[in-house]
Amino acid sequence: MLRQPALAASAPRSAQTIGATLPQISQVVELVAPNVAFRDSYRNLVAEFVERGEKLVPFVLGFDHADFDAFLERMLACSRGAGLPAGFVPHSTFWLVDRNARVLGVSSIRHSLTPALRREGGNIGYGVRPSARGAGFGVEILRHSLRQAALLGLGSVLVTCGKGNIASGKTILRNGGVLQSEEYLPDRGEVVQRYGIEIAPSGRAYPLGQC
Ligand SMILES: CC(C)(COP(=O)(O)OP(=O)(O)OC[C@H]1O[C@@H](n2cnc3c(N)ncnc32)[C@H](O)[C@@H]1OP(=O)(O)O)[C@@H](O)C(=O)NCCC(=O)NCCS
Repeated sequence: MLRQPALAASAPRSAQTIGATLPQISQVVELVAPNVAFRDSYRNLVAEFVERGEKLVPFVLGFDHADFDAFLERMLACSRGAGLPAGFVPHSTFWLVDRNARVLGVSSIRHSLTPALRREGGNIGYGVRPSARGAGFGVEILRHSLRQAALLGLGSVLVTCGKGNIASGKTILRNGGVLQSEEYLPDRGEVVQRYGIEIAPSGRAYPLGQC
């Protein structure tokens, strides 16, 4: 069974002792399909990555969103497998949002695996906006994404991360990840870890919207 985050949303870890008086993180966030209602917050999230010089993870953060309607159309097409570059499989994007309509994180679910994704990338990529990290949202977005993966018909997923990415490794382990292999990838210049996660059948469906 997947472990529930024990954190209170938006509370620093030092405040967990008063968590009993605060709503649980799972009660104040949800995973939604890309939606124009969150346009400004999504743009702000991407800007945070860029301002901090961070790699855009998941890769869909790199999609041009100047024309937001076109961006949403592209997301929809990707989830349907339309217009994909050679070697790409259908992938669905989801946003973790809070009650204030703030986009906290982004996940990308690859519907199937290719040799390239088995080597690095796996089924699910995710990222949390830098200013919201360390509050449990990483664990939460992967937990929600596993439910979405189940709705897409996946019974297990592969999730990969750099061995030095401690936060991501812990996020995967907290979601039931089992280390399958490690390999030094010269093109990446680091050891990549590959974890398998068995997905429990989902009891709850999220509003899939466009995806
Ligand atoms: C990986 C990432 C999603 C984690 O998001 P987050 O919101 O900080 O994660 P959480 O707050 O849920 O913390 C998850 C675990 O990592 C730990 N953690 C968080 N930040 C950490 C840090 N800087 N150093 C060490 N551990 C850290 C937490 O303590 C927690 O472990 P615990 O449950 O044992 O206490 C986020 O760092 C991120 O977006 N990174 C850039 C993109 C990326 O690397 N994505 C993963 C691709 S494989």
